[in-house]
Amino acid sequence: MATARMCVLFVVLSTTLSEDFKLKYKAANKPVRLFTEEELKRHDGTEEGQPLYMAVKGVVFDVTKGKEFYGKDAPYNALVGKDSTRAVAKMSLDPADLTSDVTGLTEEQLESLESVFEGTYKTKYPIVGYTASRILTADGSPDKDFKPEDQPHFQIKDEF
Ligand code: HEM
Repeated sequence: MATARMCVLFVVLSTTLSEDFKLKYKAANKPVRLFTEEELKRHDGTEEGQPLYMAVKGVVFDVTKGKEFYGKDAPYNALVGKDSTRAVAKMSLDPADLTSDVTGLTEEQLESLESVFEGTYKTKYPIVGYTASRILTADGSPDKDFKPEDQPHFQIKDEF
């Protein structure tokens, strides 16, 4: 647990202090999309030339510029091509944690998830879309908590 905390701290600090921080205030240059699981899977680094995408909390990030982490044969490759919320929260690469399911996570893991989501992903990588789970609830009705305009790169003209 202590090691996981240290890792989170290190990750957040190292990425927050990098010059990529400026990205937070840049507009997206591609339209924001809704991703199916299959579409996301195509961006797991297997197909040569495809950008690398991964989702955290249903937000799809283009992590191509972090290919030393996420590319084919890189240490965190297992996280890409899917929603890896649980793995990020737990700092785990266990296949069972490669899911968007947050059931039973501890307060500490949820806090850790928030800090990596804000401090690393939203700060460092452009948002290219959302998964259906971000926009819809489990029964298929619209998720009232979804506010695309809260996303740092969101522009109405890009979304629709
Ligand atoms: C104790 C073992 C670990 C060490 C020493 C470690 C080390 C690091 C280092 C040095 C960075 C990077 C920094 C940078 O240059 O920006 C990093 C980033 C990261 N690590 Fe780990 N790591 C460990 C375990 C894990 C595990 C098990 C996961 C599972 C999810 C994980 C997920 C991440 C993520 C998501 C990033 C951010 C990459 C990015 O900037 O996109 N780490 N880690």
